[in-house]
Amino acid sequence: MNKIVVGNQKMNMSFSDISRFIDEIKGKINSNDVIICPSSIYVPYFLNHDFSVGMQDIFYDNKGAYTGFISPIQAKGMNINYTIIGHSERRSLNETDSIINKKVINATENELKVILCVGETLEEKSVMKTELVLRRQIFGALTGVKKIENVIIAYEPVWSIGSGIVPTKEEIEKIVLYIQKIVKQYVNYEDIPVIYGGSINSQNISDINSISILKGVLVGDASCNSSEFLKIKEVVLK
Ligand code: PGA
Repeated sequence: MNKIVVGNQKMNMSFSDISRFIDEIKGKINSNDVIICPSSIYVPYFLNHDFSVGMQDIFYDNKGAYTGFISPIQAKGMNINYTIIGHSERRSLNETDSIINKKVINATENELKVILCVGETLEEKSVMKTELVLRRQIFGALTGVKKIENVIIAYEPVWSIGSGIVPTKEEIEKIVLYIQKIVKQYVNYEDIPVIYGGSINSQNISDINSISILKGVLVGDASCNSSEFLKIKEVVLK
């Protein structure tokens, strides 16, 4: 797999912000390995450019009486090939491992590439529970998943998201290896691609990108700023 740069714009950006943002990045990305995940209401404006578009979340059923949700089939029908699942901001609003598991199964079966977010809180880290938490989240999410080749894991320590604090390169490397080891143990799948997310910006990207086992980055805040995002993309996809 090529390295990827995923932008998670969350519930940011007004309509005029996205018009400006799209004007500023237009013609400057030229890679399907850049995946922008806007608020779903703006998805149509992001389609048909020189980058990929992803969902920030996706529902676990394909069709029916589910007010407000979007299904993998609907996303695929719009030429969307990626979705984030299990972001910590959703987990903190009662999205359980079992809901995440259903979403991962259905999305992968429908040939969406799933960016599965996992990561420990500061409290969990401080009592040395990082590995335990990652194990629970990963086993929980991957149980019964047949199309594991459609899964990319994003290691996003909750304490790093939006805080400006980034783990050391050694910490990230150790965790990526741990994630690959437990995925191999659990589903017998070698070298699952792992990306890193949490306070990535144009200043720290060169350092993070030098971690050779990382397959890319998940960018939050900095993905709402076109010049920051383009700089990050330059470093990762060079
Ligand atoms: P951040 O967010 O880059 O603003 O820390 C990352 C994320 O939540 O995916």
